Amino acid sequence: MKSAKNIVAGNWKMNGLVASLEEIEALATLIDTSAAADCDVIVCPPYTLVCSLAAMKKQKILVGAQDCHVAVSGAHTGDISALMLKDAGASHIIVGHSERRADHGETSALVHAKATAIYIEGLKAIICIGETEAERDNNQTEEVVLGQLKESVPDDATPENTVIAYEPVWAIGTGKTPTVEDVAEIHTAIRKALINRFGDVGAGFSLLYGGSVKPSNAKELMTAKNVNGALVGGASLKASDFNGIIEAYR
Ligand code: G3P
Repeated sequence: MKSAKNIVAGNWKMNGLVASLEEIEALATLIDTSAAADCDVIVCPPYTLVCSLAAMKKQKILVGAQDCHVAVSGAHTGDISALMLKDAGASHIIVGHSERRADHGETSALVHAKATAIYIEGLKAIICIGETEAERDNNQTEEVVLGQLKESVPDDATPENTVIAYEPVWAIGTGKTPTVEDVAEIHTAIRKALINRFGDVGAGFSLLYGGSVKPSNAKELMTAKNVNGALVGGASLKASDFNGIIEAYR
């Protein structure tokens, strides 16, 4: 049985800080993957920069995108397909981020369909799940997270084509994080659900934690039980901070 791979992924979201080619080159050049032997490093810039970042090939950075449409092509103004992102050089695509679920009303059924579209192109889906603050306060964390996991992850998911990212919505961009014990508990519940559903292979899925990860808390969060890395927002926009997080696996 293969054990889960460690991954540190940066989600640049729609940030102006990285909106130009000069900025992206400067930032990507500073990201130091050299000593991260035990960790894949993925950077997910806005769509417009996927191609440029992939073309840099200066370092061992894998390139991801932040969403895609379910269709391969067609009359979908403003959308982009997994095939197009593959053509631009992406290897991973984030789907089901809580900002997409909230801003665009994306359901787990849609996330499931997008993941399937990603598999068809031979790319990897980073499927995000996580509870809101109200759900947490109502003690519904496990119910919500495992429900999203079940509905968002297709039956043909494998550790090779799918990464799961647990991102409690209330921890995103707020500076608040769950305790290490809480993270370990929910990640262990996710791991058990994957093993129940997929058998032993469920142990091989990489489970990332996301939500206010920074250099000072990265090591303890990323070494919690059943955590195999981090999906990082704000701290991935500054090379020194992102490097500080990658450092946890050196
Ligand atoms: O996808 C990453 C994310 O939503 C976490 O953002 O800024 O809290 O690290 P941040």
